[in-house]
Amino acid sequence: MLPLPQFDHASDEPIYRQLYAFVREAILSGRLAPGERIPPTRELAGQLGLNRTTVASAYELLETEGLIRGHVGRGSFVAGPAPLDTSILWNERFLSAPLADPPIPSLPPGGETISFTSARPAEDLFPIDEFRAACLEVVQGGEAAAILQLGSPFGYAPLRRHLLAGAPAHDDLLITNGCQQALDLLQRLFTQPGDAVLVEDPIYPGLKNVFARAGVRTVGVPVGPDGIDVEALPRLIARERPRMLVVTPNFQNPTGVTMPLAARHALLKIARAAGLVLVENDIYGDLRYQGEALPTLKQLDETGDTLQIKSYSKLAFPGLRVGWIAGPHPVIVRLADLKQWIDLHSDQLSQAVLLRFSESGRLAKHRQRMIEAGTARLHAVLAACQQYLPAGSRFTRPQGGMNLWVRLPEPLDATELLPRAQALGVSYLPGRYFAVSRTEPGALRLSFAGLPPDRIEKGLRILGSLFVEEVERMRSARSAGLAPAIV
Ligand SMILES: Cc1ncc(COP(=O)(O)O)c(C=O)c1O
Repeated sequence: MLPLPQFDHASDEPIYRQLYAFVREAILSGRLAPGERIPPTRELAGQLGLNRTTVASAYELLETEGLIRGHVGRGSFVAGPAPLDTSILWNERFLSAPLADPPIPSLPPGGETISFTSARPAEDLFPIDEFRAACLEVVQGGEAAAILQLGSPFGYAPLRRHLLAGAPAHDDLLITNGCQQALDLLQRLFTQPGDAVLVEDPIYPGLKNVFARAGVRTVGVPVGPDGIDVEALPRLIARERPRMLVVTPNFQNPTGVTMPLAARHALLKIARAAGLVLVENDIYGDLRYQGEALPTLKQLDETGDTLQIKSYSKLAFPGLRVGWIAGPHPVIVRLADLKQWIDLHSDQLSQAVLLRFSESGRLAKHRQRMIEAGTARLHAVLAACQQYLPAGSRFTRPQGGMNLWVRLPEPLDATELLPRAQALGVSYLPGRYFAVSRTEPGALRLSFAGLPPDRIEKGLRILGSLFVEEVERMRSARSAGLAPAIV
């Protein structure tokens, strides 16, 4: 049987990690034997006086490590056979601290599920035959041997030329393993522990984590309906003396909002006056479903100093891991130098296939399909939010991209409601995953691009009735509490 742990509430270690470490130790030491049942999350949460999501996060880590296994309807069990008794105590050797965020919750296996959790393209929209054809053309072409050889740290030269076509002469470009590696390289080149970096709040968690791991402070700049709050910048710049500002003007993740032209000009002016390294993340820029396209910061910036990152992950195939950084030549040279010491260069076959996919006109055709599907999906998610969310809810109205931000009426808490939504087969990400300086308990992100309109409608119908029911339950509990005593 699982003994009850004691938690250190003063510790920096989150409670879910303390619980995870406790159960892990019990399993590895043999106090919990393979096959033994561990209490369901609800029961253990009740016994320990914890939120159920805290216990679920600890179980999820244990499950990821293969230490426990969950069975729908039967609870979780210690996985057998017993883990290897290694001669090195690996946990004591790890020098970097684990991330403070709990793991992203996943839906329980089995049953029909509708996940709004991940901002990635739908697999059923992948043009597999067209992709196969592009692969064949590359491997059967005369360049195949050169592509399989070690290449330049800057990336596959024909793809670099293709991406740079039409760019100003002072621009150069480094191919990276997606925008994620681009962010990592920029962090390494421009920041050191203790530095501050200005980022949107809320923000894509992968960006927060790059800086957190490096001991760099992320300072949140609030995001409103027009994107990052430009007026807040001068005060924050004066107070924090940041090294860098990272901004996503098009279809920001997680809110989906877009900066209008005037705000882009104002931001550039402020960044230039402060001498800030300005990084524009334009990963969603090619996925506009409504309205006029706006010039990017990179296009507006006459100095040429803006560093722009992009990738093929949202438009085409995230699994190929191909992205890039465009910026002034001296910066790109230093970034390429850094990248060379990390991984020599990005995979050339993926780059060559994407180049073929693009030059043959297949990418443009695929983009058209993505825009058509995205338009229908955006329409479905907006209509369903309008129809099903409880009165008092607010939500953004993106013109493109993959994400929409919902604020539920108080006192609903999106984190607490998630396990109940998951039990009904629907998942989303609560706002806390994206918070930098301020947490909004009622906020959640809906990633709509991976689901067809009918599933979006169904998922929101289920979420909406759960949220409405909870609002009513809380209101009646509250009014019951205020009723005069019966004497
Ligand atoms: C805003 C943002 N930046 C970067 C990334 C990482 O993308 P990539 O697959 O290009 O590394 C993502 C992925 O979701 C994202 O949403």
